[in-house]
Amino acid sequence: MKDKKGKNLDSEERFNMKEFWKKLWNLLVSSHGAIIKLLFLTIILEILRLAGPYILKVIIDVITLNFRPEVIEKVIFLVIAMFFANQATSIFDYFVDKRVLRTLVEILTYLANNAHKKMVFLGLAYHEKENTGNKVVKITRGVDKIEGLFGNFFWDVAPTVFQIIVTTITLFIINWYFGLIILIFVPMFIILTLKVNKEVFPFRKRRFDQQEEATGIMTQSIININTVKSFVQELREYKQFFRATQNVKDSLSLEFSKIIKYNIYRNLIIDLGRGTLLLFGIYMTWKGNITVGSLVFVYTISEKALISLFRISRLYDRIMESGEAVNRLYDLSLEKSEIENLKNGIKPKNIQGQIEFKGVTFIYSESKIKALDNVGFKINSDCVTALVGPSGGGKTTVARLAYRHYDPQKGEVILDGKNVKDYDIYDMRKFMAIVPQDVEVFNSSVKENISYAKLGATQTEIKAAARIANADEFISQLKEGYDTLVGERGIKLSGGQRQRIGIARAILANPRILIFDEATSNLDSYSEKLIQDAMDKIRKNRTVIIIAHRLSTIKKADKIIVLEKGKVVEEGSHFELAKTDGGLYQKLIGLQKVGDVE
Ligand SMILES: Nc1ncnc2c1ncn2[C@@H]1O[C@H](COP(=O)(O)OP(=O)(O)OP(=O)(O)O)[C@@H](O)[C@H]1O
Ligand SMILES: [Mg+2]
Repeated sequence: MKDKKGKNLDSEERFNMKEFWKKLWNLLVSSHGAIIKLLFLTIILEILRLAGPYILKVIIDVITLNFRPEVIEKVIFLVIAMFFANQATSIFDYFVDKRVLRTLVEILTYLANNAHKKMVFLGLAYHEKENTGNKVVKITRGVDKIEGLFGNFFWDVAPTVFQIIVTTITLFIINWYFGLIILIFVPMFIILTLKVNKEVFPFRKRRFDQQEEATGIMTQSIININTVKSFVQELREYKQFFRATQNVKDSLSLEFSKIIKYNIYRNLIIDLGRGTLLLFGIYMTWKGNITVGSLVFVYTISEKALISLFRISRLYDRIMESGEAVNRLYDLSLEKSEIENLKNGIKPKNIQGQIEFKGVTFIYSESKIKALDNVGFKINSDCVTALVGPSGGGKTTVARLAYRHYDPQKGEVILDGKNVKDYDIYDMRKFMAIVPQDVEVFNSSVKENISYAKLGATQTEIKAAARIANADEFISQLKEGYDTLVGERGIKLSGGQRQRIGIARAILANPRILIFDEATSNLDSYSEKLIQDAMDKIRKNRTVIIIAHRLSTIKKADKIIVLEKGKVVEEGSHFELAKTDGGLYQKLIGLQKVGDVE
């Protein structure tokens, strides 16, 4: 129990209201002006709202004090005036609402665009440490919650707060006792509301956690549906999700029963306030201190103000609900790429394509071991260089450092004699392409996927690239050829087909430096051979780096670099390395039985 209580306290302590508003304000940077204007307009609106009841007061005064035939005209005029005052308020209200809506839409668009832009420009390091679901939820939920909060604030909270302020001031002007009564009951209501929220919050927090857990279970079972089915675990997944939602259900009932109970007290406060005001008003009228019209006026505006108090009770909820979402969105806005792009980096018109690693040591942030450990080698331009070695040796890491997805902790990666850090990252990358181990495919047509890096490529160009990548044949056999939709993450393609699309994409991009990361691992021997031929074709006037497990792929490479546990253990041509007795390359050849050295 103690532990639990301590935990709850802790979670509340951690919620810093001031911090929350500051973060939210910073997130809404694009609309500061509009928000301030809106607040101002809301104040005017609330003052305008007093006009109708005030004219009513005048009418009642006229008819109760000296209602003679001569004043009928005046009364009729006042009734018409009241109508127009109410109409004017309503039209003004309409314009404020429209403005709120417009600002809201602008904020949502801005937040979503900004978050998405941030996301796509952030370096690979960020994307590798966060899971995809989280990233998407971070944006959608953040935007969603801010939408709810903003709407609640401008449609409920701000009008109510200003209404109460305006009403209280008016009441003080009429008679300070009236003002005092409002000043007693409103805070009582607010304190009670805060108390409810405080009391309910731990339950609510638990419900949020449970909901998150339930969503997690659902997502996992859908993402891994193949595994679920392969091991006949459907029922288990179903039960797991069922249990999770059951917990949510229990928490929800508990939470709402508490809130509903408190509503009785809140209503009591409001009724007491109304009663006191009315009683005191009648007393004042009896004493002749105020007119009947004033009594009606006082009662009408305070009644409206008191009733609208209920509209602010959701604010605390909203803040608590959106706290985490705002936090995450805010953190995202602060997130910096680990790769810093120089302001005036070199924007090469062309590159030679010579890469050199000098004493490079690199450790992934989530890892303890050195992925590369004091590595040094040269990759000559217009040559084919192969990186081989056991899994986890650091081959992919080399490609990533060359592309500057990451910067090494020690040493330098040199491109054409200059540190890669000296280049403008985007201009430099234009000359490079990586066909990754796991080719990513967009849910669009084959054609669009191949021409991704070269917008507006002609059909002939696309077909030519596909032919070189040995993809043309299978694409032609698809139902709609190059226009076939490949499905989410290319689900309608085989692994080897996806890879060939990736290769065609890179070929069409026509980079100076082309890196194939295991690009042939999913291919059968026949296709592999065709791709080798393709590589022979495209290696001209290009620096090609091939990362391969199958050594047959790289026999013709100009240079082979063998990486093991992050270190270069051997370097040379196939012929040289195959002859090095006791060398790792020779051992690997032995294992693959392709060591046709002589
Ligand atoms: N994003 C990452 N975060 C943390 N550690 C990583 C990450 N990527 C790779 N590593 C680690 O870095 C080391 C080198 O990995 P790398 O992917 O470069 O190996 P590889 O030679 O390409 O292996 P494979 O042949 O299996 O593709 C491995 O120990 C791996 O676990
Ligand atoms: Mg790899």
